[in-house]
Amino acid sequence: MEATTTPVVETGRSTRVRPGTRALFLHGSNYGTCREFAAQLADEAAVLGCDVEVAPLDAYAEGLPTDRPVVIAAASYNGRPTDDALAFATWLKGTHDLTDVTYAVLGVGDRNWAATYQHLPTRIDARLAELGATRLTDRAAADASGDLTGAVREFTARLRAELLETHGDPDATDAVGPVEPATGYKVRTLTGGHLDALAERHGLVPMTVTQAHDLTAPGHPRRKRFVRVALPDGIGYRTADHLTVLPANVPALVERAAAALGVDLDTVLDIRPARPRRDGLAADRPVTVRQLLTNHWS
Ligand SMILES: Cc1cc2nc3c(=O)[nH]c(=O)nc-3n(C[C@H](O)[C@H](O)[C@H](O)COP(=O)(O)O)c2cc1C
Repeated sequence: MEATTTPVVETGRSTRVRPGTRALFLHGSNYGTCREFAAQLADEAAVLGCDVEVAPLDAYAEGLPTDRPVVIAAASYNGRPTDDALAFATWLKGTHDLTDVTYAVLGVGDRNWAATYQHLPTRIDARLAELGATRLTDRAAADASGDLTGAVREFTARLRAELLETHGDPDATDAVGPVEPATGYKVRTLTGGHLDALAERHGLVPMTVTQAHDLTAPGHPRRKRFVRVALPDGIGYRTADHLTVLPANVPALVERAAAALGVDLDTVLDIRPARPRRDGLAADRPVTVRQLLTNHWS
């Protein structure tokens, strides 16, 4: 663990962490909420200059690192750990010396599960402290039936402040001006198609529809469709598995939206996030307004 007594710059607050500062973001998640939050927190830390890693809790079921802060976003299911945190929860029952571990827990739960509300994150937070680890900041309890976003935002702000407090780079303050680029050109090689980044984000693979027809009578108000797809090599499906479909908006709707916005469907937009983020638009190249409204908008 790095010393927690880094002098905070006298001329202004540090805006970045010292070069080489790392941070680990772990999630205990079944349906993705905590995985997303862990990724979002990692993005925030990356903006500060941290070298980040995001992983499930079970990837560290044999011990937590001592060379970087560990941030945990975890949920419970009927008081039990999520599938990706089972081994970690078992490890936590053991006796370990965690005196050099620094950590923070973002608990996610739902108050409707009153008897076991925030059970796992509360246990993780308390047990890590019991084993000697140091809290970077207090546990947050984000409630899916309450102000979830607000609680996450507040935790993010606290975490950010603590990271800058403990790992802040005295040479990087508000006063530092923009850095001159080292070269005249930035070159990116783009392969594949404009939907690849979206597919990669959600782990999607193309499948061929081999049959599709209505199961309901023509004009039935609640149309049901029969759809048969050919599974690509290496993709399995068992009863009760989920098949998620990436929808494309129909051309008529896309045209109406473009008309309402007063934009030309063939205009090419080069949209770049102001900072790296995993939850924004999954477009890694310029797209036309048509592509944007068809595939990236819901
Ligand atoms: C079947 C089920 C059981 C749950 N049990 C609990 C619980 O015991 N305690 C709690 O605080 N939240 C409970 N929740 C709420 C989830 O923890 C909450 O929805 C959380 O956002 C899920 O995170 P995930 O999407 O990362 O898996 C439960 C939700 C479901 C669907």
